[in-house]
Amino acid sequence: MSDVRDPRRTASGDVTPRHVAIIMDGNGRWAREHKQPRTRGHYMGVESVRTVTRACARRGVGQLTLYAFSEENWKRPRREVRVLMRLLRRFLISERGEIMQNGIRLTAIGRLDRLPADVRKALDESRDMSAQNTGMVLCLALSYGGRQEIVDAVRAVCGRVRAGELEPEDITEEVITAHLYQPKMPPPDLLIRTAGEMRISNFLLWQMSYTELVVTPVCWPGFREDELDDALRAYASRVRTFGGLVPQSS
Ligand code: IPE
Ligand code: IPE
Ligand code: MG
Repeated sequence: MSDVRDPRRTASGDVTPRHVAIIMDGNGRWAREHKQPRTRGHYMGVESVRTVTRACARRGVGQLTLYAFSEENWKRPRREVRVLMRLLRRFLISERGEIMQNGIRLTAIGRLDRLPADVRKALDESRDMSAQNTGMVLCLALSYGGRQEIVDAVRAVCGRVRAGELEPEDITEEVITAHLYQPKMPPPDLLIRTAGEMRISNFLLWQMSYTELVVTPVCWPGFREDELDDALRAYASRVRTFGGLVPQSS
């Protein structure tokens, strides 16, 4: 096996994941445990977003992708959706200083046209403002579904076939990847899910083929720097072979 390098290692030789993705779950359960309304859980969850974003940037993570609102979350009561959208807009505006100070580039994936106009405007402004930043990429998954992303990619590829730009036999994994919402995103090295559920919930289905999974029982509003470091340590102890064999030291 000539090409089985240790893919955990970055250019500097450490084991910091290049791309961390997080399913931020358990805001409602956190609120219930604290005898507070669900909206309080979402509010406190925004604090975790702030802390974890800053901590990831300091630890040299290249991209942090946060599952903030799934395509399926539109099924929730109108009032809850309204609260979530309001918090999202407020976050996008209030974090601009922090984003610029830390050289973070804000991006988003999902069916963004479904977002309310005022959220979309705040998102576009923050994206434009930070577009030239060269530090960590903070990618928000909004109105996002992994299956929907694959459907959108297949539609785009079919459009190119119909236009005569591509033959069906030229469709490769690279071609599909090139038509995803963020084609240049490296696949997540580490997925963290808070609040204990052992499922993917339609997140980054194409990209997570070889992602390391860490599930913590801690609800998202309680997930801060120490919990992040626990997850990063768990990741650093994994051996990734991508279907190959563990290299034997001779
Ligand atoms: C995650 O917390 C926030 C979103 C999905 C937007 P939940 O609201 O799903 O919290 P639980 O799962 O009910 O505890
Ligand atoms: C996943 O959480 C989606 C986000 C964190 C945005 P959900 O609470 O919606 O997922 P399920 O319903 O438990 O699978
Ligand atoms: Mg949930």
